Amino acid sequence: MKHTSISLVGVFDSGLGGLSVVRALKMALPHTSFVYFGDTGRFPYGTKSTATVRRYSMENTSFLLSKGAEVIVVGCNTATSVALDTLCKKFPLPIFGVIEPAAKKAASLTKNGRIGVIGTIRTIKSQSYNKAIERLLPEACVFSTAAPLLVSLIEDGSPSHTITRDIVREYLRPLKMQKIDTLLLGCTHYSLLRNLIQEEIGDAVSIIDPADSIAEALCETLSFSQKDNPKYQFFASDDPTRFKKVGELFLGMKMEAISIGGVL
Ligand code: DGL
Repeated sequence: MKHTSISLVGVFDSGLGGLSVVRALKMALPHTSFVYFGDTGRFPYGTKSTATVRRYSMENTSFLLSKGAEVIVVGCNTATSVALDTLCKKFPLPIFGVIEPAAKKAASLTKNGRIGVIGTIRTIKSQSYNKAIERLLPEACVFSTAAPLLVSLIEDGSPSHTITRDIVREYLRPLKMQKIDTLLLGCTHYSLLRNLIQEEIGDAVSIIDPADSIAEALCETLSFSQKDNPKYQFFASDDPTRFKKVGELFLGMKMEAISIGGVL
């Protein structure tokens, strides 16, 4: 059964990457309001322990609830990998993670069953993509590799630097050798590198961005109220100026104002 008339969706990430999720959601749900929290003050999550990412994720969810969010989207693969179950048990509202919908898409798209995943150290260690894909397609071969340097390059606003291309090429080399036909961008920050990654992995490989899959999952499961003037609120736990500058690249639109927010 569909939940009725959601008017405010809450999204969080460790920083800016989750704005790629808001961008996709906004296209799918143009009449819905969003409240976003980027935990820039405690970024990155990908190198932190499971316990720490869980604690941060609970605090972020409480913060978004305090702003009136009626559904939470964990716009971070790392947090989804290690904290989604805990959040779903603790909070009495619909909570979506980015992994399951993207894994579903990969399982349905692959032709040779050879799927690559790139993500943060924590996401890759958790094997959450491997498990989700193998549940859906037991004969699949999943090859995953951590690509930790990419997040900092993106967050620093250097996605088109030549160094970024060299690093992408190095990270993709083992996956290329495995003859994958589908590549999952297992970190919401990587959206900004999608074209570069496609150039390096080659046109024969289909790229899946979890931002697109989560938008489909939300629309299938929930129904949303239709407002003429949807509102977008942005909160960060550190330096709103930098958040705005790089964040607009992820979001694909101007951000009016960014407020400091976070732990209550
Ligand atoms: N955007 C986050 C993800 O999807 C990771 C960035 C970080 O390491 O904090 O995993």
